[in-house]
This record gives sequence, C-alpha cells and structure tokens, in this order.
Amino acid sequence: MSLTVSSLSPHPNRPIKSSISERSTTSPPFSSPSHLPMRKIPGDYGLPFIGPIRDRFAYFYTQGRDDFFRSRVNLYKSTVFRVNVPPGPFIASDPRVITLLDAASFPTLFDTSLVEKRDLFTGTFMPSTSLTGGHRILSYLDPSEPLHAPLKKLLFNLLSSRRHAVIPEFRRTFSSLFQTLETTLAADGKAEFGDANDNACFDFLGRALFDRDPKQTPLGSDGPKLIMKWVLIQLGPLLTLGLPNVLEDLLLHSFRLPAALVKKDYERLAAFFKESAGTVLDEAEEMGITRDEAVHNLLFATCFNAFGGMKILFPGLMKMLGRAGGKVHGKLAEEVRGVIGKGGGEVTMKGIEEMELVKSVVYEALRLEPPVPLQYGKAKRDMVVESHEAAYEVKAGEMLFGYQPFATKDPRVFERAEEFVAERFVGEKGEGLLKYVVWSNGPETETPTVGNKQCAGKDFVVLVARLFVVELFLRYDSFDIEVGTSPLGSSVKITSLKKASF
Ligand code: HEM
Repeated sequence: MSLTVSSLSPHPNRPIKSSISERSTTSPPFSSPSHLPMRKIPGDYGLPFIGPIRDRFAYFYTQGRDDFFRSRVNLYKSTVFRVNVPPGPFIASDPRVITLLDAASFPTLFDTSLVEKRDLFTGTFMPSTSLTGGHRILSYLDPSEPLHAPLKKLLFNLLSSRRHAVIPEFRRTFSSLFQTLETTLAADGKAEFGDANDNACFDFLGRALFDRDPKQTPLGSDGPKLIMKWVLIQLGPLLTLGLPNVLEDLLLHSFRLPAALVKKDYERLAAFFKESAGTVLDEAEEMGITRDEAVHNLLFATCFNAFGGMKILFPGLMKMLGRAGGKVHGKLAEEVRGVIGKGGGEVTMKGIEEMELVKSVVYEALRLEPPVPLQYGKAKRDMVVESHEAAYEVKAGEMLFGYQPFATKDPRVFERAEEFVAERFVGEKGEGLLKYVVWSNGPETETPTVGNKQCAGKDFVVLVARLFVVELFLRYDSFDIEVGTSPLGSSVKITSLKKASF
C-alpha cells in the first residue's frame, strides 16, 4: 500500500510519495512506489556518547549548522542520511535521526498518518513541564491525543474572534515602533531594531488577542525580557550564545538549566493571562478544558509560538528587504501606496490581498529563512521515503528530522534558490511554487486543522508579516541596515530611513 504524502512534486509527472510497505508474499518488504532505486540510508552514528558529542561539536562549533548538513550531503551523495543531532548526552537520551534535506522527502514530516509528533516540538528532548505550569502544551501533543483537538480549536476561535482587532492594533503599535526608531536614529545615527521590535510585538499581541495593553498591567514593559529568559531555558540546548565553546557546551548543551531560574518570571506572565483572558477561559471550560490548562496554553501560544516567531520573522524581513535594495523598495512603495490610495487611505484585508509584490516578498522571506527551521517526526511504521534520486527504508520507531532551509532552497524546485527574488511568487507560475513554502509545518496551499500539526497561527502570521511590509513602505521610500548575528534570528541596525516622498 502506498500513501501519497502530498502533491508536492518537483517532477510534474511524478507525485512525491512515501510508501508504507505491506508485507506480502509477492512483493518485497520494502519497495519504491516510483521505482526509484532502493538505497541503504548512508551515514552512521559513531560510538555511543563519543559519536553524539563529536556531531554536536561539529554542528555548533567546528562546522556550523549549514556546513554540518551540506558537507554530509556531499560526502554521502545523498540528501537522506543518518546523523546525531544536538543536544545528545546528557539531555537527550537518543540523538540519532534520519535527516531529510530535499523538497521531495521533507513533506513526510507533515503526514501525521506516517509520523508521530508526540513530545518532539523541540526535537530529541522535551523541556520540563515545570516550565509550562505542569502541562504538556498543545505544541507537544500528537493529533491522536484527546486534548489536541479542543486546544487547537480554542486557538482557532480566539484568532477568528479577534480578527477585527489585528489591523488597527498592528498599525497603532508598529507606527509607534517606527517613530521610536526615527528618534533614536536622529540622536545616535543608528537604531537597533531588535529590542524595539520585541516591545512592539508583545504590546501588539496583548492588545490584538486579549484587548489588554500589557504596560497597563503589573507586567509593565517587562514582558519581552521575561519571555526571552523562559525561552532560553527551553531552547538553550539548541542554541549558541557566543560564549567560549567548551564552557558553553557544558552550560547549555550538556545539562538542563533548572526551571527554578524562571519560576517567578513565569508566574508573572501566567498572572497576565489569568487576568486578561477571562472570556477565552470561560469558553475553554465549556469545551471541557480546565481553566489552568487553558491559561498555560494561551501563554505558550502567545509568548512562545507567536512572540517567538515574530521576534525572528520581522528582523529577518528587515534584513532581506534591506539587502534587496532601492529598486525593490521603490516597487513596494508604489504598490502599497497605490492600493491604499485607491482604497481611500485605509489599510484593509481586501487591499492587502491585491498587493502581489508585498505577498511575494513575505513568502520569499519565509522560504529563505523559515523562523522555525527544525522539524521532527517519529516513524509510526515501516515505510519507504523518497528523495529525488533514491528510495530509502525507514523502520518503525526511527526519528525523522528535517532542516527546512535545505528543502525550501532545493535547486530542483527553485531557480536561483539561494537568492532573495522579490517577485518569485507573483503570477500564475509564482503561485504554483507556493506548495513548496512550508514554514508552517505544512504547504502554504494547505490549512491547519485539528487533525494535523500545521501551525495554528498560519493565516495570522502571513497577515502580520504583510502588515509589517505595508507599514514600512507607507512611511519610507527606502532604508539602509547593518546586519549582525544573534542566538535567535538576525540582529539588525537601521542606519537610514528615507521618509515617503510621494
Ligand atoms: C512567525 C511566527 C510563527 C512561526 C514561524 C510558526 C511556526 C510553527 C511551526 C513550524 C509549527 C510546527 C512545529 C512542529 O510541530 O514541528 C507550529 C506549530 C504551532 N503554532 Fe506556530 N508559528 C508562528 C506563529 C504562531 C502563532 C501566531 C500562533 C498562535 C497564536 C501559533 C500557534 C501554533 C500552535 C498552537 C502550534 C501547534 C499546532 C498543533 O499542535 O497542531 N504559531 N508553528
């Protein structure tokens, strides 16, 4: 029996498939549905303990993430291979994965009939539930678990009931962000984007989703800093902070940082949600979710999923748009102001829908630098996974892993795959490529449901990213930046903002 993983095919005549082998007397236990040659998965895990530590050092320090994967693709002449991924000892009990690094094999990770997504949101380890109020949060639940559907439904309802607030609250918060940046730029000649963006994102989320300005609550303006400490404790095993290598490896990647370090911070965040989310909590109770479970899930969706995602996405957009240069800026400004002028000066959903280039640059940014780049799924049964060139046997219980930028920069799908091409997704041909944009843990052409693991905030994210570009080019003809690195995403300094001249 073979199951089509999705219709994502780089070959027009050959749908990409993963097959689940049916053991019968007439067919071999594993076979390729597309008649690609069967190949043993190359790569090895090395000696216990030593292999995982060797791979961890290569991933973080001696090679770096991109080279770590690229060099192995070259070595094995395969986009599917075995390797250990961080953190390994002593945080993850089993760091062994089968890596999928092309647009053909990667979608296997989205098919919840083929892979289990239980407790692997952060990969081969799961942060302690003491960091989430004692609950296993939605992001860690497999759709087969009873709480997955009601919790995801609760978020869908929240997002849809607050739809009307998104555009006005976004415009209010982000016009104030740009005013602050202009003032800093005038005074200092440069303006750091990151911190100001963090504040704007958290204020926006509080107002847009819960009709509450966090600054008017006991949280004051502390929200972003409390969240970042809490996120760091959870994601530390996967990050580098630029400390001396051996010290950092010992501190961040070898042992868990104690949840007690952020207990007080987390309680302050939880108090905000308890106090601000009253009507959502009532609805949760009616759906059979306890108020406590709902509070911690709302906190996680807002602070980890939404804030964490926007914190990476917006600096990434600034970086890629900044580098795209004046000609692209000019075209975006013309499009944005043209549509909004025609609509009487109002920013509306309908207007944004007409902005082909704005939509395209957002997809292009999400393609080139998906903010959540690592995906995992445990094989539910024996199956065959296909790359463009070969078919590979995967056994039940093996961990599949994908580093998404390699799948979304697959040269067999995208021309000039490594480049930011602003108009890539414009027009019919461009739209045809959207199925290969998978930042949301699923194709852009598909929809999150209570039965899958696609990002619950998919439409919200695309909307706010478009609003970000709209706000930028309503205010400015062009801008310049300097780019540095940061543990999560890009660090961007603005060096000039040329005010709108038409
Ligand atoms: C730039 C922003 C965002 C990015 C890049 C992003 C990305 C993702 C990804 C990749 C996953 C799947 C992770 C996995 O299981 O491997 C996911 C799941 C999820 N996201 Fe997002 N997300 C963003 C914003 C949001 C927002 C705004 C919300 C809701 C308010 C949200 C709620 C969720 C939830 C609840 C899940 C788990 C879905 C499930 O269990 O079925 N995310 N997101």
